Amino acid sequence: MKRYMVVGGAGFIGSAFVRRLVEDVPEAQVLIVDAFTYAADPQVKVAFKGDKNVCVVEESLTNTRRMRELMGSFCPDAVVNFAAETHVDNSIAAMQPFFETNVGGTVALLSAFKDYLSASVPANARYLQVSTDEVYGASSGATAPFSEAAPLQPRNPYAASKASADLAVLAAHTTYQLPVLIGRCSNNFGPRQSPEKLIPKVILKALRHEAIPVYGSGLQRRDWIYVDDHARALQHILNYAELGSVTNISAHHEVTNIELIGHLLQLLQNLTGDKNISTELIAHVADRPGHDVRYVLDTHTLEGMGWTSSWDFDTALRTTVQWYVDNISWLEDAQARLEEHVQEHVEG
Ligand code: DAU
Repeated sequence: MKRYMVVGGAGFIGSAFVRRLVEDVPEAQVLIVDAFTYAADPQVKVAFKGDKNVCVVEESLTNTRRMRELMGSFCPDAVVNFAAETHVDNSIAAMQPFFETNVGGTVALLSAFKDYLSASVPANARYLQVSTDEVYGASSGATAPFSEAAPLQPRNPYAASKASADLAVLAAHTTYQLPVLIGRCSNNFGPRQSPEKLIPKVILKALRHEAIPVYGSGLQRRDWIYVDDHARALQHILNYAELGSVTNISAHHEVTNIELIGHLLQLLQNLTGDKNISTELIAHVADRPGHDVRYVLDTHTLEGMGWTSSWDFDTALRTTVQWYVDNISWLEDAQARLEEHVQEHVEG
């Protein structure tokens, strides 16, 4: 596989996927297509400027005609769809954009892919949908880990939009025999993540000595994976998964939110020597409505493809915290884009 059209390739996970691809597959030709909303990293345009193997196009996946044209001219072997509205709190405040982008956008891209395949068929072409563990709904302590066959029981608008998109992808396989794949991953962390998400938000607030909002008790659990591990898993899925299949992705590192925040504050204090960074900054606030307490995935399918995590959690977390400390202006810029977006599109 040589030609990759990476939709949402300027976002946090999409850009990590492109970086890994460029390193692992030197002959790869990459077309990044991104709407460059608040969640995209504008530096992606600069980072790949002059790289003859990577081209960046600013466009929304909801534009079927443009997606069809881009596929027709670029002739991808793989179309990988990372583009999505991803923040649960935003989806609770306003659900419509989530269904427009995540469902409407996926259907637009799939339609373009269907037309592309009927016009010219590169052998072994693939469409990979990047999805989430949230589609299975919350897991209680008593629930067995969710296998790929578990029912979809999303509990918030974001998760419902991703589950709906997954169903559209699977229907395109059954109805049109499109060569599709789905990866459903747990919580990602790493450099260049929007500060709407827990880890960069805690880091930014702590560095500014601002209160850190912990939703409810903070005893909810999340299963964290380093973004580079997710990127490697997606390459595995593209290379080895059965067409029409779903593959769960997790590195099985579960921790409560309050423990994770304590760990982050300690790391930050050690790295900066700033004694004002402490658990004193923690402020318990009202819980997120419909807050999922836990997600647990069964990853036998992925392991059966020979994938294992390449990152130890503590090393990855330390690397991440160090990156934000060294790149505080990146984080401040991302926060400014986020505030503008929330004012215009979420609260407004
Ligand atoms: O599970 C995978 C999903 O993980 C992805 O599909 C989503 O796109 C991604 O946003 C993430 O969803 P979460 O809701 O788990 O991520 P978030 O970083 O928003 O929150 C992580 C946990 O921390 C969650 O239990 C809510 C809690 N939290 C979050 C924020 C932003 C707080 O207590 N305070 C906060 O300010």
